[in-house]
Amino acid sequence: MEKLPLGRAFTLIEPGPVVLVTTRDGERDNVMAISWTLVLDFTARFALTTGAWNHSYAALLKTRECVLALPAADQLDTVIGVGTCSGRDTDKFARFGLARAKASRVQAPLLADCLANIECRVEDIVEAHGIVVLQGLAAWIDPARKERRLLHAVGDGTFTADGERFDRRVAMRDKLPEGL
Ligand SMILES: Cc1cc2nc3c(=O)[nH]c(=O)nc-3n(C[C@H](O)[C@H](O)[C@H](O)COP(=O)(O)O)c2cc1C
Repeated sequence: MEKLPLGRAFTLIEPGPVVLVTTRDGERDNVMAISWTLVLDFTARFALTTGAWNHSYAALLKTRECVLALPAADQLDTVIGVGTCSGRDTDKFARFGLARAKASRVQAPLLADCLANIECRVEDIVEAHGIVVLQGLAAWIDPARKERRLLHAVGDGTFTADGERFDRRVAMRDKLPEGL
């Protein structure tokens, strides 16, 4: 993984991809799948929606940190596997052969086979709605990864991968952060 300027991290989440969220509860690493994500602004602030039915939620509350890992299209079956069993009774890293790398700012691990990773601190939890507000602290990208398409959940059990990219940078210049 290569360091990605934190000011670009929102461009990983803005397209609405499925992410893998790693946590470490102090003893064990865990990972879950999340498709309900939101970019809050350009400064690497995000929100995701989850709740106490997931084992990861307790670790998010306790440690107030996590990593958002961005799986590529060739990791769909891993995403489904990770999102359909629980760290309560399963070591998902062993079960799905997930390679970990050390993060720089948080205890939760990076996922080495993903396209990118964003280390995050939990800034706020709106418990009534299960909204977890995250502040990105550091971002990483694998420039050598061949499959670069992100996955998107339709919500009915089907998924799409990134398609054609349209460049409107000139027309949007006034709305984009400097240097992006
Ligand atoms: C594609 C996919 C997307 C998911 N999106 C969400 C989500 O946005 N929010 C959520 O709470 N759970 C979501 N889940 C379910 C959790 O990933 C799942 O409950 C997982 O088993 C929790 O793991 P844990 O108990 O180890 O934390 C999703 C699952 C899949 C397969």
